[in-house]
Order: sequence, then C-alpha cells, then structure tokens
Amino acid sequence: MSVHKNVKRITTHVLQEMKSNGERISMLTGYDYSMARILDSAGVDIILVGDSASNVMAGHETTLPITLNEMIYHAASVVRAVERALIVVDLPFGSYQGNSKEALTSAIRIMKETGGHSVKLEGGKEVLESIQRILTAGIPVMGHLGLTPQSIYKFGTYTVRAKEEEEAERLIEDAKLLEDAGCFALILEKIPAALGARVAKELSIPVIGIGAGNGVDGQVLVSHDMLGINNEFNPRFLRKYHNLYDEMFNSFQKYIKDVRSGDFPNEDEQY
Ligand code: KIV
Repeated sequence: MSVHKNVKRITTHVLQEMKSNGERISMLTGYDYSMARILDSAGVDIILVGDSASNVMAGHETTLPITLNEMIYHAASVVRAVERALIVVDLPFGSYQGNSKEALTSAIRIMKETGGHSVKLEGGKEVLESIQRILTAGIPVMGHLGLTPQSIYKFGTYTVRAKEEEEAERLIEDAKLLEDAGCFALILEKIPAALGARVAKELSIPVIGIGAGNGVDGQVLVSHDMLGINNEFNPRFLRKYHNLYDEMFNSFQKYIKDVRSGDFPNEDEQY
C-alpha cells in the first residue's frame, strides 16, 4: 500500500525540520522508474540517483566511467516515478572538477533535463568554488565527504577513511566549510562512528551516513546491495534485507524449465 497519499512532499526544509526534531532520515539509491515507484510508495525520504549506477547498472568496476548524459537518463526515469521523496542526483566524475563554470553547466543540465530537485558532489575545500556557484543559481547541493569513490585511484583502497587525527580534523573542517557555503545536507561515507556522531552534532544541517555509524541524522544504502541483488558485496556496514539474487535466480530457472518442458503457457495463459 502506498504511503504518499496526503503526505507532504519532502523538501530540503522538511529535512532540516526532521534534524531539528530528532527524526531520522531514510535515503536509498534509485536508478530506474520501476524501482523508484516502489521506493517512493514505501516512504523513503530521499532517493539518490547515485553514480553507483556505474557499478550496479552498467557493470563498471568504479564510478568513474558514467557520463553526465547517462546520469540524466537515470534521473529522468526516477523523476517520472516519484511523488513524495526528495530526489538528489550525483554529478558524475569529470562533470564538475574542471572549474566552477563547468560545474554549474552540469548542474543546470541535470535540473533542466531531469526535473530532479538537487545535486550531490564529492569533496570539500577543493570543490568549494563550484559548490558556491551552483548554489548561487538556486540549485540545492548535498556534500559528500569521507570515502569519495570518484577519487578511488588517489586513495588506492575502499577502506575506512579518517581514522587518523589529521584526516579526521580535515574532514571536520571541510564539513563546516560545506555547511557555511549553504549545502542543505552532507553524506559521510565509511568513517569511524565516533567521527560521524561528532560531525552530526557540530553541524546544523542533516548528516547522512553510509558506514558512518548510528550517531548521524540518517542513513543511506545502495538499494541493490541492501536487497541482496549483488551477492558479492558484503562490507561490514551493509545490512541485507533480502537475498534477491537467489530469489531471482530461482525464478529465472523455473521459467526456463517451464518453457523447455512446454508447461508455460498453460490453457489459462493463452488467448
Ligand atoms: O552513488 C552512490 O550510491 C553514493 C552513495 C554511496 C552515497 O554516492
């Protein structure tokens, strides 16, 4: 049963209220119309059209190859399905790092061509000018610190970030810069729980974690991971709510068997 009848649309202001009231924010990724309809009907607060589409939808090893046009295709499909959730669209690698004008042009394309409500980009001080320019155009921006997968070749691994004091201090500094610039929320990925809780406490904007512990203001997961569609990805922070890989595999095998045996279609399944 859908929960979005008579429920007000989630906006950046609603998220701010949720933080003020101590209500936790739920966020999941969505890349296509059918999944986005289910996510929205279930009542998720934010749908992230993440550049993780590069991995889970397109099969790339990293998030780097996905293009702005591909992100626009995914985001436009999600927007057509959603009535309640706030939609955040990732600016893909290469669409904002060059300079702030390029960043603004990319963000404007996303807003105009998809109908999405906001954009997300990775990084702190190094992308501040781009964030400011996008915000000046009236486009809400969500920040993303900690493990930033678009910089995977700089880090060299997907292990926990900011375990050392120096990197943790730099992350806190970046988080405050993003808040001061006007970001409406911040994602923290794969950092110690104590650091996640500290950032959430020191910032007045919502802080949403993925592998950042339980002391933040909300949680985000990649839908395909929490549904167990991808059975090869098992990080500690992931809670699997289903084993959809096995369910789908078994259904596909049953169908193949039924076709081969002539059992499908039966009398009731034909005209
Ligand atoms: O692209 C994505 O799915 C993300 C989440 C991991 C936060 O950025």
